[in-house]
Amino acid sequence: LSGSGKSTLANALLVRLLELGTRPVTLLDGDVVRKHLSSELGFSKEHRNLNVQRIGFVASEITKNGGVAICAPIAPYHHARREVRDMIEQYGMFVEVYVSTPIAVCETRDRKGLYALARAGKLKEFTGVSDPYEVPEDAEMRIDTSDISPDEAVQRIVLKLESLGLVRPHN
Ligand SMILES: Nc1ncnc2c1ncn2[C@@H]1O[C@H](COP(=O)(O)OP(=O)(O)O)[C@@H](O)[C@H]1O
Ligand SMILES: [Mg+2]
Repeated sequence: LSGSGKSTLANALLVRLLELGTRPVTLLDGDVVRKHLSSELGFSKEHRNLNVQRIGFVASEITKNGGVAICAPIAPYHHARREVRDMIEQYGMFVEVYVSTPIAVCETRDRKGLYALARAGKLKEFTGVSDPYEVPEDAEMRIDTSDISPDEAVQRIVLKLESLGLVRPHN
């Protein structure tokens, strides 16, 4: 959901992976992609899926060439997430992190004032308020940021990457 912590965690993870320095790392943040790669798209199911497929394509090219792509979009539909997973698993590993922060917490944060607009009916097709979110059932990880710090959350992701053999354990 918006405000769940995707960008915060993705940026912190980027810093950690750059410090580890094993491979080139690219961050594809939701808002940045919306601005530069999907600027003509809206928020219908079709356009949301197209947005996710574009991110997945770029990430698959990065994966193919030995890099790491950290992707932090809202990806609300199971089918599109599955397509992207299949595309990327041809070349490497796909680790899905479901940021499961409850909407009540996201709404309290309301960083960009979007929930207020959505509740007032001034912003349509808002995920979790007036647009669907299909909860991931096959995510490798689930992180609720309401009760842990960004540092702790990123530490959990790094431990998962270690356990998958994607990052070398260190003390
Ligand atoms: N543990 C946490 N992890 C991530 N973000 C947190 C956490 N605790 C509080 N926050 C705050 O929640 C907000 C999340 O915003 P953001 O990362 O932009 O969300 P999204 O990209 O999912 O819309 C930020 O203001 C961030 O500082
Ligand atoms: Mg974001």
